[in-house]
Amino acid sequence: MDSLDGEPEILLDPNTLSEDGTVALSICSISEDAMFLAYGISSSGSDWVTIKIMQVVAKSVEPDVLSWVKFSDASWTHDSKGFFYSRYPAPNLERVLLHRDGESLDAGTETHSNLYHEVYYHRLGTDQSDDILCWKDPENPKCTRSASVTQDGKYVLLYTYENCDPVNQVYYCDLSALPDWVEGCKGRNELLPFIKLVDNFVASYEYVANDGTALTFRTNKDAPKYKLVRVDLKEPDSWSDIIQENEKDVLESAVVVNKNQLVVSYLSDVKNVLQLRDLKAGALLHHLPIDIGSVSGISARRKDDTIFIGFTNFLIPGIIYECNLNEEVPNLKVFRETVVPGFDHTDFQVNQVFVPSKDGVKIPMFIVAGKDISLDGSHPCLLYGYGGFNISITPYFSVGRVVIAKHLGVVFCIANIRGGGEYGEDWHKAGSLSKKQNCFDDFISAAEYLVEAGYTRPKKLCIEGGSNGGLLVGACINQRPDLFGCALAHVGVMDMLRFHKFTIGHAWTSDYGCSEKEEEFQWLIKYSPLHNVRRPWEQSPNQESQYPPTMLLTADHDDRVVPLHSLKLLATMQYVLCTSLEKSPQSNPIISRIECKAGHGAGRPTQKVIDEAADRYAFMAKVMGASWVQ
Ligand SMILES: *[C@@H]1O[C@H](CO)[C@@H](O)[C@H](O)[C@H]1NC(C)=O
Repeated sequence: MDSLDGEPEILLDPNTLSEDGTVALSICSISEDAMFLAYGISSSGSDWVTIKIMQVVAKSVEPDVLSWVKFSDASWTHDSKGFFYSRYPAPNLERVLLHRDGESLDAGTETHSNLYHEVYYHRLGTDQSDDILCWKDPENPKCTRSASVTQDGKYVLLYTYENCDPVNQVYYCDLSALPDWVEGCKGRNELLPFIKLVDNFVASYEYVANDGTALTFRTNKDAPKYKLVRVDLKEPDSWSDIIQENEKDVLESAVVVNKNQLVVSYLSDVKNVLQLRDLKAGALLHHLPIDIGSVSGISARRKDDTIFIGFTNFLIPGIIYECNLNEEVPNLKVFRETVVPGFDHTDFQVNQVFVPSKDGVKIPMFIVAGKDISLDGSHPCLLYGYGGFNISITPYFSVGRVVIAKHLGVVFCIANIRGGGEYGEDWHKAGSLSKKQNCFDDFISAAEYLVEAGYTRPKKLCIEGGSNGGLLVGACINQRPDLFGCALAHVGVMDMLRFHKFTIGHAWTSDYGCSEKEEEFQWLIKYSPLHNVRRPWEQSPNQESQYPPTMLLTADHDDRVVPLHSLKLLATMQYVLCTSLEKSPQSNPIISRIECKAGHGAGRPTQKVIDEAADRYAFMAKVMGASWVQ
């Protein structure tokens, strides 16, 4: 659009990138002069990205093609001549070519470890082989790194991550001090002369703003619920607090706007709270009132006095608010709103309860149910959880869940179990490494609550989770097969003894530990889904007890959690549970759904999303005896 109320035109439509919708847009970065768009595309759901460049005005694609990009962004230098990005070396075809289709690799189906992440600078109109290598560190092959140009264009910051912990190093390079910009380093065959600012892996540091040499970061250093700090590069040992850690709420993000203001978002009992503060001293200026739910995005620039805030919750698909900060009391007005025809949110109610876990810790849980629900234990219920990697599951709109709530009478629930970031780093740590069992105990306690409170009963209770949440589901059905009436485990990490050997699995040892260390092996063997499948009828006095109907979902191009996890668990469950000399009491189905030309989940075409939701919820409805009502 030429202006906020202008006619929109299409710049790039990912739906047209392939016939079947399996090519998705994964990176989108516009140059400072707004003349160029660097965009990344991913095929078949793989994490691999190819970056291309488009001229914005002419909408023409340039010849530049950057391959083997992964876990990367594209950060432009302010001359708009090029950008930084991160990549891995091209896979050694001979070594990794297990699936031979001619001589090319079907990227995303290989399983070898991702090692030696490097940062490059690409200059527009040149070949990728001429890109400038800005940083590599062969001594630490597992680290991932990203380079990002500061808002004033003066510095490039280099972040290094060892694994998935919210901890990183920060180096910087003064671009304006380079003899011949980034180009000069190429001629001298040197890496960019980065200066170490934070050279250890103790805390997370995320750039918020800078005024010359004074840099503001959001960090969890000595502040598990995060705070804002400032350092002057001229005095790199002296850091001062700008916004101190709040004892209850997590400081989730801070964005600089309107020259010297900050939009700060807190996470307060799993709901977002927004404030406007002053950048210099962090002083509170205004509360920006939002409904109960999640801020899905804040779009703001330092030079603008207008900001845009994305908002969603279980019953609101999406609203974008526009807010002019120069008004005396800034007020949020609706700029765009997604409306779902035929959906009336007043048919539903959302409750948040705090359920005591096994050890008494209170676990928040959202329960979305029909407005006049009677707590008679009769309802089909879907319980979803994740519990890992400091990821917080805040309220969001799910078309699939709303459809089953409306037409199958399903009560759907999110348990904010430990391992996530809901209450900051302590909450994350309380559900990882030697304490991973807390996640399963929390989820089981949430399930028991739903039964006790009369929402449902075990035969009508379905659990669902993906990735680390697939592990959650896998572990819970091993530990409490009697408690559930259905289990849906998506793209789960199921082999806890070998996950670190495949693609980026080595980075997850920060949450799980690694079986190559004896102590950690002892943690993992106790809950690894693949290694804990037992016949419940041999364990329990109830000879009838069996596993709930289970569907393990995966996809052929999942190169995040490679499909072998689900495939091995499927084979093991079918072998242990469904074959035995006498007739097996396991009559509930144990099945798998394997999507093709799809990966871990991101970028999946809408048709595939619908097909999968239809399959898994139809399975759930059938095994739990839920029927469709108009
Ligand atoms: C950890 O989770 C919290 C809460 O959601 C979030 O604010 C923070 O950014 C996360 N840390 C990292 C490094 O992603």
